[in-house]
Amino acid sequence: MPLLIKNGEIVTAESRYRADLYAEGETITRIAAHIDDVPPGTEIIDATGKLVFPGFIDPHVHIYLPFMATFAKDTHETASIAALVGGTTTYIEMCCPSRTEDALAGYELWKSRAEGSSACDYAFHMAVTRWDEQTEKQLRQIVADGTASFKIFLSYKNFFGVDDAEMFHTLKLAAELGVITTAHCENAELVAQLQQELLAAGKTGPEWHEPSRPVGVEAEGTGRFATFLKHTGATGYVVHLSCAAALDAALAAKRQGVPLHIESVAPHFLLDKTYAERPGVEGMKHVMSPPLRERSNQDALWTALGAGFIDTVGTDHCPFDLEQKLLGEGNFTHIPNGIPGIEERVNLMYAYGVKRGRMDLHRFVDALSTRPAQLFGLAPRKGTLAVGSDADIVVYDPDYRGTLSAKTQHTNNDYNGFEGFAIEGRPSVVTVRGQVQVRDGHFVGERGRGQFLRRQPQYFTQQAKDSHAG
Ligand code: URP
Ligand code: ZN
Ligand code: ZN
Repeated sequence: MPLLIKNGEIVTAESRYRADLYAEGETITRIAAHIDDVPPGTEIIDATGKLVFPGFIDPHVHIYLPFMATFAKDTHETASIAALVGGTTTYIEMCCPSRTEDALAGYELWKSRAEGSSACDYAFHMAVTRWDEQTEKQLRQIVADGTASFKIFLSYKNFFGVDDAEMFHTLKLAAELGVITTAHCENAELVAQLQQELLAAGKTGPEWHEPSRPVGVEAEGTGRFATFLKHTGATGYVVHLSCAAALDAALAAKRQGVPLHIESVAPHFLLDKTYAERPGVEGMKHVMSPPLRERSNQDALWTALGAGFIDTVGTDHCPFDLEQKLLGEGNFTHIPNGIPGIEERVNLMYAYGVKRGRMDLHRFVDALSTRPAQLFGLAPRKGTLAVGSDADIVVYDPDYRGTLSAKTQHTNNDYNGFEGFAIEGRPSVVTVRGQVQVRDGHFVGERGRGQFLRRQPQYFTQQAKDSHAG
């Protein structure tokens, strides 16, 4: 059924104007001041008083995730419904087979979990968790299948983590293939040693998670990743950057010309380490890596986000319920790391970013939609409102007022990491490729509608371009 969105204020990363928007099939086919000549049966949405955004893209989520002796709680069905209610119409999941698993078998498994299950569109970052004679061949196959980004973990020793030689080989291949590599940047050895020291001193509660991974551990990982990018010619993307020290390391590398992009995630802008210092399971709810930091770091993150030095805002959505969190009772190193956020990101960044004057509306759209699309090869199909783009549209009600709570969330978990946060706006209509999936906080659409988005590599070095041309 064709779709007409009338009288709204269209907001993209570059522009803001009143217009009607018409979609036929799955794509936007017209944008004009007034569109009235539409065929009978067209679905008409009155967007008077509303903002009309491109569908938001979460560049970093975990849905199927075997991790820390358990599994993250979501299925693609539950995660995608939560995402859509919150205005996210595309997510990129980390495909994370462990070191002992076969990369290609893992990739097929991750794909099979999403297929026919996600209600929104999706893609993958392929984690490289070891390097051996099979790896290179398999990664070439995975890239040829349309998964044009890698993920490496410098942390999580012996599980997901790679050593420096493995990072080097991964980045050399990424440079040759024109693939961007995303990285979790913490020094694995330092974390392992600090954890053992703290436990030996009887420091076992969740409040010791942050001291086991202090800011210097993250700054070192970020700087080392940048150094390896410089010497391999690869393009990189630091995920979930949490603190001023790591930001300084990343910006120093960028100033030297290292092609490095920066993501931070909603919790690091809004929550601080006192959340993880709460006694018992209350603290465990807020254990993630990198950990929540001293509040003073938040100003640096907001400033860098507003100025565009932090490129994107994701979630690192990774839900574990209270029973799972309690696996770490008496030993903080066993608390499953992660916090949900796929449903809250857009509303939180609108309320605490745009409405508090920390970033303008265009930067908001850019960081949460346009730049993820551009960096990860989804533009211009995703990330903007233009003729020819997919009709992934968020009609946003800036007058809505509400409070986040586990009681009302769609996320498959028994707590909300942002419990009690006030929000000042929410999506009133969300479409995926021209079909309405959400109305006023309720999923009303088609489960399993989501498509796997195949992407082309786009980061060829001059050397690789020359060798192809020759
Ligand atoms: O604590 C986190 N971030 N859990 C998910 C895995 C990761 O490091 O991204
Ligand atoms: Zn991570
Ligand atoms: Zn993650």
